[in-house]
Amino acid sequence: AEAAKIDQQASAIPHVLVFPLPVQGHITSMLKLAELLSLAGGGGIRVTFLNSDYNHKRLLQFSDAESRSQNYPGFRFETFDDGLPMDQLTKGEKVSELLGEMDSKTRPVFKNLLVQIQPPVTCVIGDGSLGFISDVSLEIGIPIIRFRTISPCFFWINFWLPEVIQAGELPIIGEEDMERLITKVPGMESFLRCRDLPGYCRAGTDDPTMIQVVKATRESSSPAYPLILNTFDDLDGPILARIRQRLPKTYTIGPAHEHLQSRLGTASSSSSLWKEEASCLTWLDAQPPGSVLYVNFGSITMMRRDQVIEFWEGLTGSKNRFLWVIRPGSVCSGEMADDVQMPEELVEGVEKGNLKVLVGWAPQEAVLGHEAVGGFLTHSGWNSTLESIVAGVPMICWPFFADQQVNSRFVSEVLKLGLDMKDVCDRRVVARMVNELMVERKEEFRRKAVEMARMAKESVEEGGSSYRNLELLIEDIKLMSS
Ligand code: UDX
Repeated sequence: AEAAKIDQQASAIPHVLVFPLPVQGHITSMLKLAELLSLAGGGGIRVTFLNSDYNHKRLLQFSDAESRSQNYPGFRFETFDDGLPMDQLTKGEKVSELLGEMDSKTRPVFKNLLVQIQPPVTCVIGDGSLGFISDVSLEIGIPIIRFRTISPCFFWINFWLPEVIQAGELPIIGEEDMERLITKVPGMESFLRCRDLPGYCRAGTDDPTMIQVVKATRESSSPAYPLILNTFDDLDGPILARIRQRLPKTYTIGPAHEHLQSRLGTASSSSSLWKEEASCLTWLDAQPPGSVLYVNFGSITMMRRDQVIEFWEGLTGSKNRFLWVIRPGSVCSGEMADDVQMPEELVEGVEKGNLKVLVGWAPQEAVLGHEAVGGFLTHSGWNSTLESIVAGVPMICWPFFADQQVNSRFVSEVLKLGLDMKDVCDRRVVARMVNELMVERKEEFRRKAVEMARMAKESVEEGGSSYRNLELLIEDIKLMSS
């Protein structure tokens, strides 16, 4: 009877399964969310984080993954073979392929797992970019919550793209059309140009990636199910007000990394899938406060050799101090002739005078939080953007794909936290913008960035908007699980 009672008590506890798209930017933010739920749920929620075998191996190898199961009551990892090749594609241009492959190969595996998992899952938090997670969950009768790792602006644009097309605002007709304002995305009429739309909008109105993303967005936008966004109300207020008119159960719990750190009272464990090189921090220790431009283009982007050389010339030409971290394997030849030589410093790495190039992976949160860093040249991935905002570091944005094009516009034009260099790759422009950010307009940007960082931190402290939203989300999870 005692055992039956314990069993009954255990099954009365909500059991949430968190399932991200298997790439770094999604794993990072969804893992922070999973940890937050365990921590704030205080043992009242069981959380299982679903990771592919491949990524879990990397997580175990390069970060302190195990500490989580020890630190949080009721937290565990579940790993599974997602049906993809071990060296699964993580390059930007192939993310749409990844989505397609997972839809056919991972869907059935996930279904099997979801019915078998013990104790039974009472609620799934699925990555909103994988539509099959909700299909399968609802088919089995398990309530679903969608988490979007992207920016609210991007979510909102995709939501309205069918109307944009219907109104004839797409396709874009050549380069001279790029500055035209898009008027059919409510709340963005004053700043959204064709140029700031996701990259796939440049390919016409029948681009398969666009069709896929729009479909997933619409499907994941039922007012009946909660939506979690990694942002805070002071950052995205006007767009969030619009989103909430449609989707009243929108919970903004971010910046997730800062929220977790604030609730833990100490730095959270890393979730890196590469080995973090601490030498960046040692080098930064020797640099003057606010003097270093940190350069990093994220976990998926690929650069052509000619672009890398252009940046190198621009950065060295600017005479500014910089730390450039180049992910191994992230440089391809593109259309360059094979005999175009990369400067040796960019192949081997270099540390001399006022610059350091590291071919490797940085402990980015710590780098941005280092007092020597005064600017960030970024690809405008949403995690990187939030990390820069929390650290109070202004940005130069050079976006590649997905939400990056609109994030860079939002950072420069709406938040006024930096400069947008999109669609330009020219050493003179690089040098000019670096000087503008790091020297000429340094104080102006710094003031703005410090103010926004303060708001970010307040939002995750007790009583702040993200803090309250997490509590409400937990209540909702309990309700949905009962
Ligand atoms: C992409 C999209 O651009 C992003 O907007 C979307 O939400 C997720 O997929 P990604 O290219 O991975 O993301 O960029 P970003 O979202 O910025 O995430 C990269 C993460 O890797 C950040 O948390 C960053 O701190 C970390 N990172 C990156 C490191 O820790 N070290 C590095 O050297 C580079």
